[in-house]
Amino acid sequence: MDKQQWTKPQPMWLEDTSLPSFNELKEDTSADVAVIGGGITGITTAYLLAKQGKQVILLDSDHLLNGTTGHTTAKVTAQHGLIYYELMKHFGTEDASLYYQAQMSAFSLIEELIQKYDISCDWKKEDALLYATTNKGALKLDQEYEAYRKIGIEGSLNESLPFDVEAKKALVMHNQARFHPLKYLSALIEEFTKLGGEIYENTKAIDLKEGAKLEIHTGSGATVTCDKAVSCSHFPFYDGKGFYFSRMYAERSYLMAIEPEREIPDGMYLSVDEPKRTIRTAEYNGKPILLVGGESHKTGMGVNTSFHYNAIEEFAAQTFGIKKKLFQWSAQDLTTLDKVPYIGPITRRNDRVFIATGFRKWGMTNGTLAAQLISQSVAGEDSLFHSLFKPSRFKTDPSMKQFLSQNFDVAVHLVEGKLELVADRPQNLKKGEGLVVQWKGERAGAFKDEEDQIHLLDTTCTHMGCEVEWNDAERTWDCPCHGSRFSFDGTVVEGPADQPLMKIAFPYPEQQQITSDEINAEEEQPDQI
Ligand code: FES
Repeated sequence: MDKQQWTKPQPMWLEDTSLPSFNELKEDTSADVAVIGGGITGITTAYLLAKQGKQVILLDSDHLLNGTTGHTTAKVTAQHGLIYYELMKHFGTEDASLYYQAQMSAFSLIEELIQKYDISCDWKKEDALLYATTNKGALKLDQEYEAYRKIGIEGSLNESLPFDVEAKKALVMHNQARFHPLKYLSALIEEFTKLGGEIYENTKAIDLKEGAKLEIHTGSGATVTCDKAVSCSHFPFYDGKGFYFSRMYAERSYLMAIEPEREIPDGMYLSVDEPKRTIRTAEYNGKPILLVGGESHKTGMGVNTSFHYNAIEEFAAQTFGIKKKLFQWSAQDLTTLDKVPYIGPITRRNDRVFIATGFRKWGMTNGTLAAQLISQSVAGEDSLFHSLFKPSRFKTDPSMKQFLSQNFDVAVHLVEGKLELVADRPQNLKKGEGLVVQWKGERAGAFKDEEDQIHLLDTTCTHMGCEVEWNDAERTWDCPCHGSRFSFDGTVVEGPADQPLMKIAFPYPEQQQITSDEINAEEEQPDQI
């Protein structure tokens, strides 16, 4: 293998696309519709609404496409893992079929837009395959195939794979696709602005007030007044009494781009047995490469997160050989109680505020579908698919079981984190390391940066009080309860939390970082009473 280090610990999509940049919103303004969140959902929604002739403002808290969309594997497929058999069981054959049709309608819209604007985005039709390496996994594929046949999905069963993994069975969904998501979306951004759409970056929506008009308040102090608002911000920035934090859980997963030694197989692959593995082809600098990933775990429960990259690298080396390691990155995804995204009015009677969230790692079609459904709702049009995805639905099975299990997990973390015995001290840290430590008898979060400075934080999550855990791969503090993430200095990276972690007060109140020597001196002093 090439001895080079990782060229960049960031998604390859961000590397080879030049995106336009936009100013922060500094003054109050108004629009017909405000769209919050500049990923595939927000950009496509904004574009479709502008096509309807609406005056649309798109806000992003950071830079466009820097969130979940920028970290995707970008498979454009209706094969969302094992889902159709389960949907048939819980929702019935008709709804399972609607789920498939909805995904394929999103697929068709993406393809249509690529053709309409002649977008060069490495779009390639390929089959999607689920594969099993155990007998149990093979049985699940048989059930899923049965569901395909009942629903009318074009699929088939194979007995082997075109690479070095011994599979018991593989289930093919024909004629799916993969692409470069940022090349595609940068063209939609351009079309949106040509239609008169306005975009503001570094503009965080922090609250929404519902009066005669909607008011969206932003971190800079500027307000957007509008008739309708659409939250496409991964975790909804506004809950509106929808209690979304208790109805979804967050998972992290890992991906790397490699130049393989062995031949690159056509197709997009996903294993159904644990540990999960995802594989697809891509192009980088005109060369075919592979994206290999997996290792999902609930946010804040990965323990040693570097372990996950190592596991993927080992799998990639064994299966394809690694000539060169190019990029590695991770993503965070939200899953709803019944695995179907929440798309539609934020609560049953609200016809002005819409949300789109809970895409369970399948954001390319689900995000595009959300844009289709919400833009139809804003235009007052109905659709066959609205009731399946409406956020106010509640199916007793599986939603109740999942709700109890998710919220039981939250209760356990809330208590467990508080009772945890912590032995490490901040002075044990190495450069670049983060640890949960004991500081003056209390649990605290410590990180030592490259300048030998230690950043000490209260590890109590500012959302609802669970204890955050260190994520060494991303250098963030992650909350196991609802997936909030904070940087090493406590600033919010990902909600639902909207306040930073509290910096611990030192004997030097103006100073938020301390050196190891200062720590030793401080711990020797008795606490003041
Ligand atoms: Fe809810 Fe941390 S994200 S308690």
